[in-house]
Order: sequence, then structure tokens, then C-alpha cells
Amino acid sequence: MYNPHSQALLVDHFFNKPKLDIHFQTRLATNLSAIRDRFVRLYGEREDLDDHLGRLIDVMSKAYESRDKALKKSDFQRERNPDWFLSEQIAGMMFYVDRFCGDLPMLRKKLDYFEELGINLLHIMPVLESPEGRSDGGYAVSDYRKVDAKFGTMEDVQGLARDLHRKGMYLMFDMVINHTSEDHEWAKKAKAGDKTYQDYYYCYDSRNIPDQFEQSLPQVFPDTAPGNFTYHEDMRKWVMTVFNNYQWDLNYTNPTVLIEMIDVLLFIANQGIDIIRLDALAFMWKRVGTDSQNLEEAHILVQIMKACMQVVAPGTIFLAEAIVAPHHIVRYFGNGRSVSNECDIAYNATLMTLLWDTVATKSNKLLTNSLHQIPKKPEGTTWLNYIRCHDDIGLGYEDHHAQQVGYDGRAHRSFLTDFLTGKIDWSFSRGMPFMEDKSNGTARISGSLASLAGLERAIQENDEYARELAIRRIILLHSIIISYGGIPLLYSGDEVAALNDYSFQSHKDHKSDNRWVHRPKMNWEEAKLRHEEGTAENRVFHATKVLLAIRKQSPEFADQNNCYLVDAHNDHLLGYMRQNDSGKTFVIANLNDHPERIYFDLMIQLGFDMRAGVRDKVRDKTIDFSNYELKLEPYEFYWIKQQ
Ligand code: GLC
Repeated sequence: MYNPHSQALLVDHFFNKPKLDIHFQTRLATNLSAIRDRFVRLYGEREDLDDHLGRLIDVMSKAYESRDKALKKSDFQRERNPDWFLSEQIAGMMFYVDRFCGDLPMLRKKLDYFEELGINLLHIMPVLESPEGRSDGGYAVSDYRKVDAKFGTMEDVQGLARDLHRKGMYLMFDMVINHTSEDHEWAKKAKAGDKTYQDYYYCYDSRNIPDQFEQSLPQVFPDTAPGNFTYHEDMRKWVMTVFNNYQWDLNYTNPTVLIEMIDVLLFIANQGIDIIRLDALAFMWKRVGTDSQNLEEAHILVQIMKACMQVVAPGTIFLAEAIVAPHHIVRYFGNGRSVSNECDIAYNATLMTLLWDTVATKSNKLLTNSLHQIPKKPEGTTWLNYIRCHDDIGLGYEDHHAQQVGYDGRAHRSFLTDFLTGKIDWSFSRGMPFMEDKSNGTARISGSLASLAGLERAIQENDEYARELAIRRIILLHSIIISYGGIPLLYSGDEVAALNDYSFQSHKDHKSDNRWVHRPKMNWEEAKLRHEEGTAENRVFHATKVLLAIRKQSPEFADQNNCYLVDAHNDHLLGYMRQNDSGKTFVIANLNDHPERIYFDLMIQLGFDMRAGVRDKVRDKTIDFSNYELKLEPYEFYWIKQQ
């Protein structure tokens, strides 16, 4: 829409920068009035508004000028194929560079490992400079433009991106936008008394406002970082620290902060990053009297960041790290009817959490009931499907969804906590309680996929059958994230069934945070066992590799909002259909440790021509339905297509 104020800014800009090419100029012209409109919604029609916007245009022009030619070419291609990331060809893995192989130069030599498995999207966990011992695994950044020396340099990141692009692979990079480290230059200046920089954070002279906030602000790390404010003697002020006390929350009510962060985001995109993971974006706007999560203003901030990214680097897209209630997560895809105007990808936290419910209950009830109630996401966006990541598993389903399937939400949560932490004696799981809530006996859960799925206990007890079931469970869970609608993201180590690593308990910086139990160093000696027939490493690696390869040969696995849950009339079975113009695959998985069956009629109902017969893609075999049924052994699954 024509807006005289943004038009004036544009005309001014075109006059000053006539040399910028048509790509930039058209994108700016398309986005500027939306950007200005959102600035007004956040900051009001203040006198200096257009000065801020002028500065923002400057930031964008400069970032565009320094953007590499090859990246601009790829931007242009992606603009013409905006669905590039919805493809069935993409499969990712996330890992800590140091724990995986040491540093970035070494990583560039390890790409064949990912290729061997069929992984072409690498999510490297935070590598920017972060103070040792106060880094929260790199999520406390002290310099957004510098790679921490222990990983290498920014040139190494660029080199990695180039290597990956040459091979048709992609790079995902973390951006911690909600807070900085207390050692960031801005925080240091604030501590030294500089008012300009104190305004970059939420700094208060007295407890008055902090106390008001505390009444409704939940705590993220109540055991290790109680409270949401930290007192700093040097500046005699309380500063907001929602996560750890060394992570200072940025004050986005100050437009200068937003522009600084956009500058940094564009700088990072210019290193050759394909996907930027926006860390903790739900927390970006705070208001007294609320829980300061998912506020409308946080969405507006993301919309502005997205629009600026589209002007400068439309080939770089956003992943929302919003591990919040399902109806809130979907909102991070934006409010555009058909396309996203916020994030392009979001973690499918509902699927992740409730897959763990299926592990404990062997039933699909809560999972399918909750998935049915997630509002539809816009076309042109996708989920990131995962089973484990570096964080704890929060049992954050909605209690009324649990009630609808006959559970008491709270009681069920404490059952799941007990089950996944192995408190119940018949449980095979070996998780650890994280940030336990002593008042109700619930906790979030730490633990590796293999240990949670029963492999650790089976090995300890030398129980061959339990070991077999655990391996099947791991493969089953991988099969679901690989076939469900979205991008599968494996967690490094899970592909070789890595167990919990208890060495964090004697590590000075890690012992108070048991999330490190599932952040093991890659054991390359053990990983060699992936080539040794019959080992757990081999079984899991090989099966995962086969499934990833089948995914890539199945265009119906591209995400076009074409994943439909199928009721197989049996709580122990999870079924869904993947279907588009190129074909259809019916996925059916047995969540039970006993055999279950599906019947001929179901196949007819699903539109299969049973005279022509059906075929299982996983085993590459015709399925024998001569008894009018298909028996699924414990934790078995089939990907069924028309013969
Ligand atoms: C995100 C990260 C988590 C970190 C937190 C604070 O949730 O995934 O590891 O502790 O942000 O940055």
C-alpha cells in the first residue's frame, strides 16, 4: 500500500544510492511500507521514527553491497523456487562442532560422514564467541561477529558454507537474539555506566519493576538460575536475566537494539548461511503482568527481521526455536494466509514430546489427538521434525488434550516423568530429571535417544531381547521423523545409538546442567562399529541411511501440507498418509512391543487397488495380504505404496 512516509524514505534512498541493483531496489520498494507500518506498531509515530528507518535502510544497503555474488545468484534462484526447503531431498543433523570433531577446519574434512548417511543439512550449534564457563553451550554470545577461537574463524564458516554449497548441501546457524552474554561489549559499556548501553537491556535502579515482573514471569532454570533479574554492583542496577544470570535480555523496546540485531543477522546471512535458527524468539518482548512469552510484539519483531532479510538475502530463511504450546508455535509461521511473513520453519515440538508419550504408553491416543488440534500451518512453510536435540524434553502438551483422551493431564505428566527417568521399576528408560518441580513431582527430561529408548538398561542387564526391542524403538522413532511432513533433523550420536554420557558430572562447567548427559563427544572408534554387522551402531546407522534414501526417492514426502493422519482403528498403531500429485505412501507403525494387525478393508478405504497389490518401500517387497491382514511385529513399520 502506498504510504507517503515510506515513499519519502524510498525516494531519498534511491537518490542517495542510485547504484544498488534492481533486485535490491525492488525488494526494498516491496517491503518498506510493511516494515514502517510495523515500526509504528512497536514504537509509535515518534519524531525520530524515520531517522531510525533511514538508518535501517542504510544497514540493509551496506549488507547488500557486501553480499557475495554467488550468494546473490542463489538468492535469485531461490526467489524463483521459494519451495526449495520443502523438498523431500533435505535431511539434517545437528551437532556441537567441538564435540563432533574438534573445530571447523576438521569439520570441513568430515563431510563424507554426513554424505555416507544421507544428511545434507548441517545445523552447527553456536560457534560465536562466548565466555568459557559462562556460555550455556554457546548461547551467551559476547561477539556476534567473531567465531570463538576454539572453533576457528569466520573464514572457516564461510569456507564450510562454500564446501557445502558445492556439494548441494546446506548450513544452519544459531543466532541468539533474545540476550547477549554479560561480556558483550554492549553489556560491558552498560556496566561501566554508559546510559546509551544500559538502554540496550532492561536495567532498573530498584526492585520496584523487577518485583512487578516477577509476579507473572515464569522461571526457565529455577534450580540453577532462580529469579529473572540479577544485581550488578558496578552499575548499581538490576538487569533482566530470564535464562542464566550471565545472559542479559536485550531491550527491544529500544529501536536501536532492533536495528543492531538486524545488522548482525544480515552479517551472519552474508557468511553463506541458508537457515538461521532464531533462538528463544518467543521471549523477545516483555510486559509486566504477563508471562512475557509469545507477545504480539515479539511476532512483529520477527516480521520486521524477516522483511529485512528478504530485502537483502531472500535465500536465507528462518527457523523458529519456539518450544511453546502448539497453538503458539504455529503463530511463528506468521499471519500471512498463504505464505510465511515470520519464520519458514518451526520445531515440531508437539510431535517430539508426544512421540515420547507413545514410547511410554505404547498408544497413539495423546499424540494423534494433539496433532489433530494443531492449527494448519501456511503453505510454503515446514516443520522440523526431531526426536532429540541438545535441550531437555519438556512435557508441554495441553492438559485439555490429555483430558479428551481420558488422562488427567498432571497425573499423566508425573507418570511420564517417572517413566522416562526410570523411576518406575518396569520402565526401560534411563533419562534424568531436569529442573524438577518438587511441588508436583514433574520434571523436564534429559537423556540420549538410545538410553531413553531402553538400550542402556538392556546392555546393563545383558538382556538380549530388551536390546532388540530398544534398537527397534530407535529405528521406529527415526522412521517417523523421516517420513512425517517436514524436514527430519537427527541429533548427532543418535545415528549410532550413543548412550548417556555421565562424564558431565565431574566437569566443572557442566555438572550443574544435566542436559550435558545427552551431549556426548562423538566417539569415532565406536562409530566405526557402524560397519560391523549386528552391532547396535550398525543396525541403527544402516536402517536410518536406508530410510533417508527412500525418503529422497519419494516426492510425496516433500512438505506441501500433505501429511494426513489415518485412524487404523487400533491405539497401538500410528498411521498417516503422504500424498501429492506424484504419488502416495501410507505409513503405518506399531508402537507396541506386541504384534498388531491392519486389515484389508483399511487399505480399500485408503483407496489402494488391492487386486493390483501393494508394496512396502522399506523392504522393497510386495506385501502379502492373502490373509486379509498384515501383521506388524513389535515396533515394526511399513511404508506402503500401490504396486
Ligand atoms: C534455547 C537453547 C537453549 C538455551 C536457551 C537460552 O532454548 O536451545 O539451549 O539454554 O535458548 O539461550
